[in-house]
Amino acid sequence: MADVVESVLQYLEKADSVDSVDLANHLNVDHQKVVGAIKSIQSLGEVINAEQKVNKSLELTDEGKEVVEHGSHEARVFKAVPEQGIAQNELMETGPYAKIGFSKAMQAGWITMDKSAEGGPKILKKVDSITDKVQECLQLIRDLRLDGISEKDTNDFKKRKLVQEVKFTSYVISKGSNFSSSVSKQEVELTPEMISKGTWKEKSFKEYNFNSLGVMPPCGHLHPLLKVRAEYRQIFLEMGFTEMPTNNFIESSFWNFDSLFQPQQHPARDAHDTFFISDPANAHEFPMEYLEKVRQVHSKGGYGSQGYGYDWSLDEAKKNLLRTHTTAVTARMLYKAAQQKPFKPVKYFSIDRVFRNENLDDTHLAEFHQIEGVVADYGLTLGDLIGTINAFFMKLGIKNIKFKPAYNPYTEPSMEVFSYHEGLKKLVEIGNSGIFRPEMLLPMGLPEGVTAIAWGLSLERPTMIKYKVSNIRDLIGPKVDLQMVYDNPVCRLDK
Ligand code: PHE
Repeated sequence: MADVVESVLQYLEKADSVDSVDLANHLNVDHQKVVGAIKSIQSLGEVINAEQKVNKSLELTDEGKEVVEHGSHEARVFKAVPEQGIAQNELMETGPYAKIGFSKAMQAGWITMDKSAEGGPKILKKVDSITDKVQECLQLIRDLRLDGISEKDTNDFKKRKLVQEVKFTSYVISKGSNFSSSVSKQEVELTPEMISKGTWKEKSFKEYNFNSLGVMPPCGHLHPLLKVRAEYRQIFLEMGFTEMPTNNFIESSFWNFDSLFQPQQHPARDAHDTFFISDPANAHEFPMEYLEKVRQVHSKGGYGSQGYGYDWSLDEAKKNLLRTHTTAVTARMLYKAAQQKPFKPVKYFSIDRVFRNENLDDTHLAEFHQIEGVVADYGLTLGDLIGTINAFFMKLGIKNIKFKPAYNPYTEPSMEVFSYHEGLKKLVEIGNSGIFRPEMLLPMGLPEGVTAIAWGLSLERPTMIKYKVSNIRDLIGPKVDLQMVYDNPVCRLDK
């Protein structure tokens, strides 16, 4: 570009004025390049005057380009006629433009028709050779060498839709009041050196172009699920919760079920609902003292509970699985908290993946993300649970939540959480909650009087609502459109 700028100025030094088209021809560069140079010279002030001029030019149509490449339709028809002639209907099959080519070739007197031939009219060559003037002219038009083209030809080609008229802008430039054939390079940056040495005083600076568009930096993009996760995490952090380490998808049945007082015959522990791991099939390390207490409470009861009264099996508890809920992590963390003496109240949360052997459909996959919160302290009641969940959902912009009694093996009482869905015009379930059973907490070693309130919800459901995704396969898996990931805005849950 700098070269073109220089060439333009040098040319103007000797000439009074010049059209950018002629200049482009003279310099043998693309016209657009000359226009670019003119614009950048204009930004320097009164170096040049430039006047816009609208020009008309000719451009080949697709059909015209085809003629340049393969010859005019009439020439192609002429070439398709053999020495001994050809039946007219056969000639018409020789190409897409045979019909028009035929009449043009007849007009030009290149071919002739023998109407009396046997089996229909026959076409014969009338001359030995031809010159394809149409092709030659179109070649000139393509190269913008329009001098040799007569107006009659131009009109003819336009009618035949081989060329079309186009308008374009050129600039007639002349010396400006501040003309100089050598413009000093404009500075684009004010450096500390220019300031310290004072050289900035002699420099000329390029003006800001406030109309130019920014360049999109190549960067990574957060998946909608991660955006929504970040919002939920923020809410928990604002409420004083600490994140639990959930970086183990594989759990033992012990932590996923037994520690949660979920009996070993419970249907959820069936392979129909749970993915068991075949290799390694079993876990081996357990806190044995605690494990014995779990065995006790399941089989014989204790802490005021009569237990389930069955033979608790260590083999069953050892079985590895893909965790079916993050409550397994909650159990580990509550056990850990119980080992801290004296007991300190805890507020924990987690947002991570869980796995269930489900039938897949538009809203269910065999894996999803659970959001879970838990608070353990002395004397927490159902009122605390309702209040905490209320505060949590208020931060999400969800008001007027409703609770419905429910059942979980590890909580008593348990409540499902509902909210009114404006779109569906009905109450929809948005979460599950409860107070952990003493049969779960006391074997862990938590002091009497400590209760733990907890709730859980899925990350997928609010994400699908927020980003208006109706099929979960558009959100997760091989069918995800990456453009969807790039284009979706940041998540503001309360907006
Ligand atoms: N683990 C429960 C589920 O899978 C959610 C839950 C968490 C319920 C904590 C009560 C308390 O749905």
